[in-house]
Amino acid sequence: MYLKRLEMANFRNYIRQVIEPGPYFNILVGQNAQGKTNLLESIYLACTGKSFRTSKEREAIHWDSEFSTIHSLLETETHQLEIKLFLQPGKKKILVNGIAANRYPLGWPGVVLFTPDDLLLVKGSPQERRRFLDYELGFFQPQYGHYLSRYYRVLSQRNNLLREIRDKRLKSHALQVWNEQLGRYGAKILYFRLELLKKFSPHLRELHLQLTAGREKFEIKYHSSFKATNIDSEEELFKQYLKALTTVQEEEIARAQTLIGPHRDDLSFFLNGADARIYGSQGQQRTVVLTLKISQITQWKNETSEYPILLLDDVLLELDRDRRQALLSYVTGTVQTFMTSTSSENLKIGANVERKLYNIVNGKIIKNLKE
Ligand SMILES: Nc1ncnc2c1ncn2[C@@H]1O[C@H](COP(=O)(O)OP(=O)(O)O)[C@@H](O)[C@H]1O
Ligand SMILES: [Mg+2]
Repeated sequence: MYLKRLEMANFRNYIRQVIEPGPYFNILVGQNAQGKTNLLESIYLACTGKSFRTSKEREAIHWDSEFSTIHSLLETETHQLEIKLFLQPGKKKILVNGIAANRYPLGWPGVVLFTPDDLLLVKGSPQERRRFLDYELGFFQPQYGHYLSRYYRVLSQRNNLLREIRDKRLKSHALQVWNEQLGRYGAKILYFRLELLKKFSPHLRELHLQLTAGREKFEIKYHSSFKATNIDSEEELFKQYLKALTTVQEEEIARAQTLIGPHRDDLSFFLNGADARIYGSQGQQRTVVLTLKISQITQWKNETSEYPILLLDDVLLELDRDRRQALLSYVTGTVQTFMTSTSSENLKIGANVERKLYNIVNGKIIKNLKE
């Protein structure tokens, strides 16, 4: 899959701009606040129908305009896709090959995005890591999404019940049936997550070795809030979860909160045996996030038989020359990549890979070099 042409009008600080990117490596160069990330945002919008920066259309529409349009042409191995997006304050319209579409079909067209905000995957709260696991690694598992929403519904009902019991409006045996339900869905989710990690770990390890020129052994550990031990069977997890719920019941009632389960679990990333969140340098943490993000390229390829488009925003900061080189050589030549940078130096890629360089100044591409 690649983006052949994109035309936008009144989007962010662009009044009107056409871009016909190269199929491999596209570099968006410019000073701060010129429109590099805005351009990535428009590509992301074209590919997913959503922005990664805002859910409010108004913010993405040029200040002096009442609407904006993004018109894109994507090409796959077998067909062409024309996507027209119209944004108005509080309103969005999408036409795919001339037909109104509310949603994009699952997994298509594919886009993998890295932004500096993704560093929260390592440094931020457990919620960020669970979100990654559930919605990025688990993206192609619709059944999983279904269990997740069931689990969270039961969880919120159970929390209401705990409040009732704490306030003496109900007796604690009312919990039984909710424990059973929470246990069922919770065990499914836990099992699913552990299987996901089992499936992705070898690939993540291999990829991380490549991105660090063989220097770092990468491992992910899952922390179950009820300290699950026998993790090879869903039924076993269910039993352990139920048992653990009885041991924390008093505290749960006192605090009117469900204290254990997949909603309280976390992940840690280890580099050569040391926890990257605690001991990792900026560059190491950034590489961990890149490994997690870039692993999705293979996932998209396997699931849809198309490569996704890769968007890398300010990715090079804090990466030394070897890591930059490893990253660039990994992505160039197969995946259509858009990378922002404040400088075009130190961006050597394979001699036979076509690259295009765009200079962005104040919402305009002023120079378009083909090298
Ligand atoms: N809705 C909008 N209308 C006009 N300009 C906008 C709008 N939203 C953001 N901008 C401008 O875009 C600039 C940021 O562009 P951005 O692409 O994030 O910069 P960078 O090149 O550093 O990635 C801001 O300084 C702001 O002036
Ligand atoms: Mg930016």
